[in-house]
Amino acid sequence: MTDSATELTILQQQAQTQLEIQDSITRMFAPEDEGLQSALREASHAGLPEIQISPIQGKLLQLLATMCNAQKILEIGALAGYSGIWLARALPPGGRLITLEVSPKHADVVKKSFASAGVGDRTEVRVGKALDLLPQLANEAPFDLVFIDADKAPYPQYLDWALRYTRPGSIIVADNCIRGGKGLHPTEDEGTAGVFEYNQRVVNNPRLVSLALPMDDEYTDGFTIAVVKQ
Ligand code: SAH
Ligand code: DHB
Ligand code: MG
Repeated sequence: MTDSATELTILQQQAQTQLEIQDSITRMFAPEDEGLQSALREASHAGLPEIQISPIQGKLLQLLATMCNAQKILEIGALAGYSGIWLARALPPGGRLITLEVSPKHADVVKKSFASAGVGDRTEVRVGKALDLLPQLANEAPFDLVFIDADKAPYPQYLDWALRYTRPGSIIVADNCIRGGKGLHPTEDEGTAGVFEYNQRVVNNPRLVSLALPMDDEYTDGFTIAVVKQ
């Protein structure tokens, strides 16, 4: 074999090992129960795109919610309720998750999936554009955790609302903050530019401690996590 062919084989083996480790971590630390699996089936049945977070990301959201003793959680971008179920399960009795979703079709799936996952009582789906709904949430604030995962261009505006609606110790998480590395550099693309500005704003905000964390199979996308300082 040529050197480059050997090198390719080694890289393929490394990628394979990484996938196997991710699989093992998922099976050990983040297995999906019937509620989560049912949400995915309903999403597929309704023809929704498969762009939900991974089980490992879901478990990390639970970890973060538990770390900040979350009683009230705000999610922007619900899709089929998959991430919402992970988050709602981290709530103590009496806790509350509000999720914002622009698509009435998606919102119907979410309500159904929340109910079959047994979290219908502690969750609320609000239907509309997040930027229209956010100003109406003042009475529900402060939120202990905010999860941003909707359209990417307004991420900086979602951050403004998240900062307004949180307290010292709250955690703000945003998905898709790396985008193959493009979210870490100036760019023409509107969505990616929103993500880059989001990252710049959190990293330069003296009220926040933050980190972008690659989390997918290829290490090309993931969460930016920010904690509001005490
Ligand atoms: N958090 C979900 C995935 C969300 S996908 C999960 O991991 O399970 C992004 C969702 O944001 C889609 O359902 C889309 O309809 C919704 N969305 C897009 N633009 C929006 C907007 N302006 N306001 C509210 N929701 C929006
Ligand atoms: C897309 C949106 C997401 O939130 C995601 O995690 C992956 C893809 C998208 O709009 O394509
Ligand atoms: Mg996402």
